[in-house]
Amino acid sequence: MSTRESLEQLRKEINFHNYRYHVLDAPVISDTEFDRMMAELKRIEAEHPDWVAPDSPTQRVGAAPSEKFEKVRHPAPILSLANAFGANEARAWFERIRKVDDRVEKTKFVVEPKIDGVSVVLHYRDGIFMQGATRGDGEVGEDITANLRTIRAIPLRIPVESKAKPATSDKLKDLPLFGSTQHLAIANTLRVRCQQSSIAQPPAYLVVRGEAFISVKNFEELNKRLEENGEKTYLNPRNTAAGSLRQLDPAVTASRPLTLLSYQIVAWEDSLPQPPDHLTTRPTSQWEVLETLQALGFPITNTARRFDDIESAIAYAETWALRRDELPYEADGMVIKIDDLRLAEDLGFVGKDVRGAIAFKFPACEVTTKLQEIRVNVGRTGVLTPYAVLEPVEIGGVIVERATLHNFDYIAEKNIRPGDRVLVKRAGEVIPYVIGPVVDLRTGAEKPYAPPKTCPACGQSVEHFEGEVAWYCVNAACPAQLVRNVEHFVSKGAMDITGLGIKIVEQLIAEGLVKDVADLYTLKKDDLLKLEGFADKKADNLRTAIRASASQPIQRLITALGIRGVGEVVAADLSRAFPALDLLAKASVDDLQMVEGIGPNIAAAIVDWFNRPRNRAVLEKLRAAGVWPVSNSQSAVRNLQAGPLAGLTFVVTGTLPTFSRDEVKNFIQSHGGKVTDSVGKNTSYLLLGENPGSKLAKARALGVKIIDEGELRTLITDY
Ligand code: IVH
Repeated sequence: MSTRESLEQLRKEINFHNYRYHVLDAPVISDTEFDRMMAELKRIEAEHPDWVAPDSPTQRVGAAPSEKFEKVRHPAPILSLANAFGANEARAWFERIRKVDDRVEKTKFVVEPKIDGVSVVLHYRDGIFMQGATRGDGEVGEDITANLRTIRAIPLRIPVESKAKPATSDKLKDLPLFGSTQHLAIANTLRVRCQQSSIAQPPAYLVVRGEAFISVKNFEELNKRLEENGEKTYLNPRNTAAGSLRQLDPAVTASRPLTLLSYQIVAWEDSLPQPPDHLTTRPTSQWEVLETLQALGFPITNTARRFDDIESAIAYAETWALRRDELPYEADGMVIKIDDLRLAEDLGFVGKDVRGAIAFKFPACEVTTKLQEIRVNVGRTGVLTPYAVLEPVEIGGVIVERATLHNFDYIAEKNIRPGDRVLVKRAGEVIPYVIGPVVDLRTGAEKPYAPPKTCPACGQSVEHFEGEVAWYCVNAACPAQLVRNVEHFVSKGAMDITGLGIKIVEQLIAEGLVKDVADLYTLKKDDLLKLEGFADKKADNLRTAIRASASQPIQRLITALGIRGVGEVVAADLSRAFPALDLLAKASVDDLQMVEGIGPNIAAAIVDWFNRPRNRAVLEKLRAAGVWPVSNSQSAVRNLQAGPLAGLTFVVTGTLPTFSRDEVKNFIQSHGGKVTDSVGKNTSYLLLGENPGSKLAKARALGVKIIDEGELRTLITDY
């Protein structure tokens, strides 16, 4: 194969794996393997700069910041939807359009979630992503191509080439649209399209509309990270997505966890001349639109369903009104669409709203209530975070009594005052937050809020660091910080000490028995018996659980220390590079940055943590108490270099007889092996437990060796 051919091959493979990961959420190779392919592609492109094409996977990031966004005229108006609140309004819509056109009686309906994101319009010429725009006023939007390129769910070239054999019905079950057997008939149609799309030309010109958004989980993770670093948190996923797409510097957009689901074909021009039996003609129904988008490699929702009549469509939309929290993104309703696109088009529009579809809105998730008080929480790193104590109010079936106020700047900007009536929003799993005050309802008694000058927990003065929005309590002995610290230290992903709940932690600290985490290991039975609710057995159990945690593997102890930016994944990476805490304590910023996944910020935070005398003292106390996993043990060092499982990659499925998932992971890692989530050709062993999942079939298909827990143990003893 010539270099040029291997470059093309590599691009196809990368696109395929990108699709598996970001569109199907079902990767078949590890991140490391993917990174290696990208590195190889970059190397070839560096040697042959004239081969770099705009649709190369290397071109997602790195475009220069622009001065301003150019205007883009949409090929057809980008229309919107009218709202229906409840079943009766949806029925009224149906009756209205039935009077306009009696074909409505015969049509089917497609029901899709109405994602609360940002509408975007994507242009493809000869299968290559050329331009992407915002909706703007529906006629003209703004060119945000460079930003959209950074969204990995958006294919840069369609159809996404797949090395995989033509999909079989069985395989299609794994695809988002085909969760249940009820869709097998459609799966067959899609198979034709899939096979066909892999040989056919894509349309000469295709314009797709979709919704760009940030999932609730990614949004919360983003905010948690920002809060821990004393930075401003974002208000809600929608605003964050919109703000991220309007960045002039695409590198900023690339750092935000945006994704996309597509739902409309705005323009489709086939290449001419057409072969007579050409199948990729423009779809004529909404259901076919979704199938076709999926077959071309665009992400689509897995929640869409098609119904024969309006009542079934409404009933389905109503079920989601009750289950909206289960959607991975914020949705403000379901969209009920006429399936027959010809009919939908003939129905036309009213103002900017199409007649052929309606937004079936979920009940409001914003209510007003009284802000009784603003309280301040002290976090593990000392960050002070204000929150609202509300007069209890029901929002979407849940009683809300607390809501976040983000930070002190937010309270000032929105002029939120204790005693105000405030608008509160709760959507999906996102923590409820205060949108702002209803100023017209003020009595005049509400006084502006002043942030505390001292820590509400320890009374020491608070500080503000240059460039950060947060205020900190910098008193290392602050009891509130200590409670959070100990809480984190004993938590499941860290030292996992069962029976040590927050109430007991608070008691231990209030009684002065625990001044730092190391004190846990020297607690005497008599000390515990003095605490309320403690009798003989409870004291013994707790001491046993604490003692048992001393033999947790080193990565758990690293996690437990609570260093900024060092979660379970980073801790595991660190423990492989630094098999003992003294080695980690001595590491420089440069040493640390040699570890994959560790950037300058985390490296600096680690060095800073180990430089603090108070932390050093805690480490010494832990060492003295025998909480020093693998530190001086030669075997651990040897295992980390060349353990019995070195170079082997494991995937676990099902329930194991004795190990929990976490335990087996630690066991494998502490013997030099690696554990990944999905079976690929580089998986060495599938570790099989009871009630295995789909990984078993995948392992069999790939010929991966399958072992049970007993055989895993022999791998180590035979070493
Ligand atoms: S259909 C002609 N489908 O909701 C087609 N819209 O006004 C009209 N939205 O801002 C839109 N999910 O961006 C449609 N599955 C979905 C949608 C959806 C979200 C947004 C759309 C627009 C608003 C409707």
